[in-house]
Amino acid sequence: MKVLKDYNELSYVVADVVEEQIQEYPFSKLVLPTGSTPLGMYEELVKRKLNWYYVITFNLDEYLMNPDHQYSYHSYMRKNLFDRVNIYPDNCHFPYRPTLSFEDKIDASKGIDLCILGIGSNGHIAFNEPDSSFKSRTRVVDLTEQTIQDNSRYFDSIDDVPKQAITMGLGTIMESKKIVLMANGVDKLNILNVAMNGEVTESVPASILQRHDNVEVYYCD
Ligand code: PGA
Repeated sequence: MKVLKDYNELSYVVADVVEEQIQEYPFSKLVLPTGSTPLGMYEELVKRKLNWYYVITFNLDEYLMNPDHQYSYHSYMRKNLFDRVNIYPDNCHFPYRPTLSFEDKIDASKGIDLCILGIGSNGHIAFNEPDSSFKSRTRVVDLTEQTIQDNSRYFDSIDDVPKQAITMGLGTIMESKKIVLMANGVDKLNILNVAMNGEVTESVPASILQRHDNVEVYYCD
């Protein structure tokens, strides 16, 4: 795990990884996260004016809600990245039903080159909540009370937070050639240590990353 000096450096360093990937291979397939942690990275990427024209993206997850809703992850991505770079809208994919056809789309693109992840306070990655199968694929899931609580800050009231989502599975994520996990804030440090140095167990979904041979973890407090 690399400890960075502050949130700006975290954003900058992960943007460097994305930039390098796109520069080296313009047809890259990326998996992208939402949440508060990657906001600075997206800001930094927009500033760099990279060529996104051939890039294909897959988002990690989406609430089971109207994609045009102001708090959907479609809206988040449009606002923070897609509407601000020259990406081709048809190349931006979100998990959808039938979930098998989303998985087929990833397969058809010949796999993910780089997957950027955040981590939830309960150790989830994407919306793979504790006790998700390590073999899981894209599917509809129920969100835990903890995640609903954590994410209520983005909504007008906790009752507005969707109770279900569609998430890429842990098995799907692990097939990425390279994975970068970014975590911001001292409240993530404990779960990060448990996930990266503790037992590999389905009760801590992020612990599966110990089994991947190309993972980078970046943290700032
Ligand atoms: P956060 O969410 O970046 O808003 O902390 C991370 C996550 O739940 O994966």
